[in-house]
Amino acid sequence: FGNQSLAGLKVLVSAGPTYEDIDPVRFIGNRSSGRMGFAVAAAAVQAGARVTLIAGPVSLATPAGVAQRIDVRSAAQMHAAVLSAAAQADIYIGAAAVGDYRPLEVSAQKLKKRDGTGLSLQLAENPDILASLSAQTAHPFLVGFAAETHDVASYAQGKLRHKGLDMIAANQVGDGLGFEAADNALTLYWADGMVELPRAAKPELARQLIAQVAERYRAARG
Ligand code: C5P
Repeated sequence: FGNQSLAGLKVLVSAGPTYEDIDPVRFIGNRSSGRMGFAVAAAAVQAGARVTLIAGPVSLATPAGVAQRIDVRSAAQMHAAVLSAAAQADIYIGAAAVGDYRPLEVSAQKLKKRDGTGLSLQLAENPDILASLSAQTAHPFLVGFAAETHDVASYAQGKLRHKGLDMIAANQVGDGLGFEAADNALTLYWADGMVELPRAAKPELARQLIAQVAERYRAARG
């Protein structure tokens, strides 16, 4: 382990999708399974960290050794849960696929079909959890994910800068990788470096990611 250990550190991980309710029976969601984030939480436990896991709606068992799991549904709930837990955390790894938009109004009753007239939903933008954290004067070491279908490197490096992150893990989605898949491949970027983690099963990739996070954390914050 050595400088790849997280012993004595508190790590906060978010995982899974968010669901934005439209009415009591419908929601807007996304295809995140939560498997990458849960694998990251498990790998952080194995590296010696005290891990808090904030999970969107997923059907996954809590990895052994996770100290605390908080289940949430919407992006607003995840935002509140992460901000409150981040005060205690040394490292935040945002592996959740947070919905960018939510319905402006949530109908208390099931919406009825109006034949032939179509339906428009007005959406409001959700706050960015990582950007909210990096705007705070004291905040954990921040690791984000960037799942992209194209121009992965340039979008990832842009997000690293404008969200004020310490590291970003970029992956191409599609072709049997990323969302709903067992395998993934990541490229990690930080301010003055990068490393490629080639295609592997998510648990193996998570261990390599955690080793890099530990090294960068030690370099940045001793
Ligand atoms: O901008 P984009 O959603 O692609 O960025 C992905 C990264 O930002 C992920 O780490 C995700 O957890 C985080 N994110 C966030 N709050 C949002 C949207 C995304 O923290 N509202």
